[in-house]
Amino acid sequence: MSLRHSYVFEDLFTDKSYKLSEDPAIYIKEGSHTVVLENNFQNEKTGCRTFNVNTAIVRNEQGVLGVIVYCEGEGKSEDDKATSESLSVIGELAASAVHEIKNPLFSIRGFLQILDNTLSESDKRKEYVKIMISEVDRLESLTKDFLMLAKIKSDSKELVWVCELIKEVIELYKSSFEKKKIRFRLYMNDESIFLWADRDQLEQVFINLIQNAFEAVEEGGSIDIIVSKLNEKVKVEVKDNGRGIGPEVKDKIFSPFFTTKKNGTGLGLFISKRIVENYGGNIYFNSAQEEGTTFVVEFPIGKDH
Ligand SMILES: Nc1ncnc2c1ncn2[C@@H]1O[C@H](COP(=O)(O)OP(=O)(O)OP(=O)(O)O)[C@@H](O)[C@H]1O
Ligand SMILES: [Mg+2]
Repeated sequence: MSLRHSYVFEDLFTDKSYKLSEDPAIYIKEGSHTVVLENNFQNEKTGCRTFNVNTAIVRNEQGVLGVIVYCEGEGKSEDDKATSESLSVIGELAASAVHEIKNPLFSIRGFLQILDNTLSESDKRKEYVKIMISEVDRLESLTKDFLMLAKIKSDSKELVWVCELIKEVIELYKSSFEKKKIRFRLYMNDESIFLWADRDQLEQVFINLIQNAFEAVEEGGSIDIIVSKLNEKVKVEVKDNGRGIGPEVKDKIFSPFFTTKKNGTGLGLFISKRIVENYGGNIYFNSAQEEGTTFVVEFPIGKDH
C-alpha cells in the first residue's frame, strides 16, 4: 500500500513534529491514543479493555513513508510493577513532607493573626496581611486535601453510625447556617444505619457536599439532608436551592482542580468520588440552573455490617 500523498493519517497525530534528517528532509510526527476494545476482549470488571497506543508517523516532503505503532496493554510487566512500587514510596514520602508543612503553616498563620490585630484599619499593610492569611488558609486546605487523598487506600475501618456522624457534621455548620439565615432540615427514615468504613473519610465526603451546598445558596436559602436505607443501600442526599450547575461545567466538576470559586481548590468532589467509589458506592447529582442542586451518595451495606 502506498502512503504517498496520503494526509488523512496525520489527523490521528499530535502537532509535535521532529526533523529526522535535513537532506533528504524526513520528519517524524508523534501521536498517542487510547483505544478501547469491547465485546471479544471483555474484562470482567470494566466490560472492556483499554490499550495505550503510541504512534509515530514518518514522512518526507512528498508524503508519508510509514507509521510506527507501539501498543501497551493492560497487563503490567515486572518493570511497570517496580515503577508503581517506587511511585507509592514517593507518594508516602510526599504525604509525610506535606504533613510536615502543616505545622509551620499553623505558626505562620498565628503570627499573621497577631500582626493583623496590631495594625489599624486605615493601615494599608492590614490588607496585605489579610491576603497572606487567606493564602495560608488555601495552602492549609490543599495540604488537608492532599493528605486525605494519600489516605484513601488506608484501612482504618470501624463501624460508623451514619446518622450520628451526619448530626456531628451539621453541628459544625450550625453557626454558619444561622449567620447566612439558611433554613436547614434533616430527614432520616432509619436512625440505625451503620457502615463499616473509615470515619474520617465519610466525614470528609459529607463536609464537602454540605460546604458546596452552603456556598451555592444565597442568604436565606435552604439546605435539606435526607438519609435513607433502601435495598441494602444507604442513601444520603444533600439538596440546596442555590444557583445550580451550568451545562458547560457539569462534566468537569469531579475533575481534580476544577473550580468556579475564587478560593476553591477544586478537590472536594474529586476526593469525595474517590472515597465513595473506594467503598463500592456511587456519587451523582441532579441540578437545574437557578433552582438548585441535589448531590446523592449511595453506599452498599455489606452482609457483615
Ligand atoms: N451544590 C452545588 N451547587 C452549585 N455548584 C456546585 C455545587 N457543588 C459543586 N459545584 C460546582 O463544582 C465545582 C467543584 O466542586 P468542588 O467541591 O470539587 O471544588 P470547590 O468547591 O470549587 O473547591 P474545594 O476544593 O474548596 O471544595 C465548584 O467549583 C462548583 O462550580
Ligand atoms: Mg467544594
